Amino acid sequence: MDEGRLIELLITLHDGLPRQGPGDSASTRRALALCGALPDAPEILDIGCGTGAQTLTLAAATTGHITALDRSLDFLQSLRRTATERGWSSRVRVCQGDMRALPFREASFDLIWSEGAVYSMGFDAGLIQWRSWVKPGGYLAVSELSWFRSDRPAELKAFLDVEYPAMRDIEANLTAVGEQGWQVVGHFPLPWSAWKNYYDPLRERLPAFRAAHAGDADAQAVADLTESEMALMARYAQDCGYAFYVLRRRD
Ligand SMILES: C[S@@+](CC[C@H](N)C(=O)[O-])C[C@H]1O[C@@H](n2cnc3c(N)ncnc32)[C@H](O)[C@@H]1O
Repeated sequence: MDEGRLIELLITLHDGLPRQGPGDSASTRRALALCGALPDAPEILDIGCGTGAQTLTLAAATTGHITALDRSLDFLQSLRRTATERGWSSRVRVCQGDMRALPFREASFDLIWSEGAVYSMGFDAGLIQWRSWVKPGGYLAVSELSWFRSDRPAELKAFLDVEYPAMRDIEANLTAVGEQGWQVVGHFPLPWSAWKNYYDPLRERLPAFRAAHAGDADAQAVADLTESEMALMARYAQDCGYAFYVLRRRD
């Protein structure tokens, strides 16, 4: 299956769900609280926002302006509808774009946010490229799938060596952060409830997705892969998971 078809099927599978990746509003607020020196009304960029679960939490928790960027117009339209319903249309702006080529002036943001999305360009590439868009002394809060232990169960390792070969452990990510001009303000693992927040609605969606794509081998493969991932992440929640990294630009 080519990448374009895979992306199209993943968007169809996830559209209308509250989240497109693991996370919860308590973790978003916990990471935001670590950004202690933000201005009163910060300029925030949320990269890979999806339908905007964390965008809306940021809008509720700050008085700032949030630019929410994603490549999927469907996801962005859903976020725009919700933001308008909540009276935040002047503070939440959606922007269709590519996280690898941000369409903004450099040093525009007090805070760049990205939950469950940097993997698609690579953690190091995100650290390096996004740094220019953060104002000096500004923050980057990013969640990233990370190994929690050095002894890696064979079944899980075999899966992730294929699906995410660049994945590292928390210590290695913290080392990379320091090398790319960032200071670590804090980091913490997401709780299993953040995965359930994502997986429970996704699991409910799968039978209808399979039925709507009966006879489509690519779509069934995407559903199979999703089910395998959900089973493995539940079985090995102690061995790997998402970690939030809250970083400050060092000049
Ligand atoms: C796993 S989802 C996470 C969405 C949301 N942050 C959440 O936690 O629910 C990753 C998001 O990144 C977006 N994305 C992936 N590659 C992208 C790219 N190159 N440029 C912009 N967005 C991208 C996807 O469309 C998707 O919405």
